[in-house]
Formats: sequence, structure tokens, C-alpha cells
Amino acid sequence: MTILVTGGAGYIGSHAAVELLKKGHNIVILDNLSNSNFESINRIRELTDKDFPFYNCDLLDRDKLNTIFEIHNFDSVIHFAGLKSVGESVEIPLKYYQNNIIGTINLCDLMAKHDVKKLVFSSSATVYGHPNKVPIDESFPLSSTNPYGRTKLMIEDILRDLYTSDTSWRIALLRYFNPIGAHESGRIGENPNGIPNNLMPYITQVAIEKREKLFVFGKDYETHDGTGVRDFIHVIDLVKGHLKALQYLDENEGVEAFNLGTGSGYSVLDIIDTFSMINKKDIPYEFVDRRPGDVAICYANPAKAEEMLGWRAEKDLKEMCKDSLKWQTDNPYGYE
Ligand code: NAD
Ligand code: WQD
Repeated sequence: MTILVTGGAGYIGSHAAVELLKKGHNIVILDNLSNSNFESINRIRELTDKDFPFYNCDLLDRDKLNTIFEIHNFDSVIHFAGLKSVGESVEIPLKYYQNNIIGTINLCDLMAKHDVKKLVFSSSATVYGHPNKVPIDESFPLSSTNPYGRTKLMIEDILRDLYTSDTSWRIALLRYFNPIGAHESGRIGENPNGIPNNLMPYITQVAIEKREKLFVFGKDYETHDGTGVRDFIHVIDLVKGHLKALQYLDENEGVEAFNLGTGSGYSVLDIIDTFSMINKKDIPYEFVDRRPGDVAICYANPAKAEEMLGWRAEKDLKEMCKDSLKWQTDNPYGYE
């Protein structure tokens, strides 16, 4: 039984690959390295002492993708590959629609052709748009505020249509909240290009003095301290949810969405405090205007994943902050 991991050289995919190999699964990784580095593949091999095939392949290259399906007998696919920057998606929407949607259609089409019908898809809490209340459960209305989010919504719709057309598909839509942290070894982690968009990579770059200070976007939200509140989840907990989802799909047909979050909300200032305390590092910061499009509060109700997948997040914020800094300190220039 072999699992195809698309986007397996990336942040979440590389951690998933390590967990899958540790649990004895055979994997094949496919990635076009558009937002990652081959060094992460070396590190996965180093951490697990296991080898696996890697293909530098773009999901838009149907012929090459078909060849990979001809070579390997896949049991299931975990589909991480996609572009993920909200701001960039506003600037180059067609690239996002083409890459994320056409890429996923090519993948599903070839899965069907080769009779591989078990799929775990990386969706996002962004599909809840601006939720009216928290915690957010899977039945909340779906909407999106930017092209990136719309690609996730459209793909979810496409996958639901696919199941309607052929009920032998088994599909898990995993809606991630805010993944942070890294493998405790510090050998793999998040490797953003240029100035980080997301909070934790920015904080870790301030911590190692690569950047002068953090800009906190907004101090007048209706939250306990005025800064945005999110559901931060350790990437290792997150990827364990994928293994549980695969098990679930072994036993259940259908298409099902699951929130992968901790169920707790922490503000930007909470993160700065915990990060500073556990790592004994000051994080200089300055308040600036709100970032357009940001919601005040977003955290999950993860009860469905607990009930149906037998999964819950275990690592706390301190571990997330500690592991994030270890990765950044040991790899100040990422994989370069
Ligand atoms: P990442 O950019 O580190 O990993 C994605 C990988 O996909 C990269 O290695 C990239 O090179 C590859 N890729 C992109 N387009 C491809 C294509 N056409 N063909 C082959 N490979 C391609 O991102 P990540 O943080 O690991 O995210 C993984 C998935 O999870 C993405 O789909 C993302 O949208 C989703 N997600 C991420 C977050 C987050 O905060 N990191 C939150 C919610 C959902
Ligand atoms: C968290 C909080 C910011 C940076 C994004 C995507 C979402 C999902 C996860 C993929 C907010 C504040 C941030 C900074 C700050 N990705 N912040 N200064 O926006 O919740 O979610 O990543 O699916 O779709 O939108 O995460 O880490 O960018 O922001 O003050 O330099 O930190 O305003 O309150 P976000 P984030």
C-alpha cells in the first residue's frame, strides 16, 4: 500500500511524510518545488532513515503525472500541493485558480482513471470567511474573501460533486486552523520566501534578529486584549490528523469535512508573551493598522474530529513556540 503525497516537500507535507514513514507507510512524494527546496526531501530521509521515490513534477503536467500513476500502485493520496499566500492570490488570481484548481482536477481525474479513490485534501479555516460566532463548527456557512480562499471553497465543491457522481470515492476535507511549530529535531520546518506573511515565522525572524520588530496588525479588535485571536495548532498534531483521516477512509465511504484545530483561541499578544517567556527572548513590536481582510476571532470546535477520527491536538502553545524557534535558530536561512 503506497500513499502519494503531493506537496510533500513543503511545510506541512514534509512533516506528514516523516509521520507516515515512522508509522511504516510507503510513500511517494511529488512536488514541483515552487515553494520548497529539495533539501527538505533529504531531511525527511535523514530523520526517518528511510528512502522513498521523489518526483519533481507539476500537477499541471498531466502526462508526467499519469506516468507516476502508471509506475506506482497507490492506495490513497494526501493532497497538500497548492499555492497558499492570501495576498499573492489577490495580485495573481489566475495563477492561483490555474495551479490549485486545475492541478486538483488533473490529480482527481488521474486518480479515477487509475482507480485510486481515497483522498485527503488540505482545506483551510479560510472557507468560513467572516464567521458570526466562535467556536466554528463544520456546519457553519462557507464563504471566502480572497482568491486563495475561493480556490479552497471551489475544490471542496468539486470534491463533493465528484462523490455525488461516483459514491465509491472516500474523501476527507481537512480544514486547518493556524499551523505553527516544527519537528522537535529542528531539521524540518516552515521556510517562507522573503518577508513572512504569517505571524509565527515573522516572530521567529525577529527573535534571531533577522528582522527588527514585529508589526502587530490592529489593537482595537473586540477581543480580550484588542489583538486578533487564532487557533494555533502544532504542525505535528495537525499531520497526525491526516493519519487518522486515512484510517477513517479505510472504513467509511463518503465526503466529510473536519476541523483540525485545538479549540482554543490565543491573541497576537498572548503569542508574543508565551514565545518570550518560554524562549527567554524579547520580541520588540509596534502596533500598526489592521490588515485588510483579517477577522477578529477564529477558533475551531474540533469535536467532530475527536468523535469521528479519534483525534485531538495534544501539544500546547509553549511547545509550538519552542519548536518554532529551534527550527529558525538552527536554520536561519531556511533550507538555503
Ligand atoms: P507549502 O507551500 O509549504 O507546501 C505546498 C507545496 O506544494 C510546496 O512544496 C509547493 O512547491 C508545492 N506545489 C504547489 N503547487 C504545486 C503544483 N502545481 N504541483 C506540484 N507541487 C506544487 O504550504 P503548506 O503550508 O505546507 O500548505 C500545504 C497545504 O495546506 C496547502 O494546500 C495550503 O493551502 C494548505 N493550508 C495551509 C495552511 C498554513 O497555514 N500553512 C493553512 C490551511 C491550509
Ligand atoms: C494571525 C494573526 C494577524 C502577521 C492565514 C491565512 C489562512 C491560513 C492560515 C492557509 C492575525 C496577526 C500576522 C504579522 C500580525 N492559511 N499578524 N503581524 O491570517 O489567521 O491565516 O494563515 O489556508 O487562510 O489567511 O494567519 O499568521 O497571517 O495571522 O499582527 O506580521 O496575527 O493580523 O491576527 P491568518 P496569520
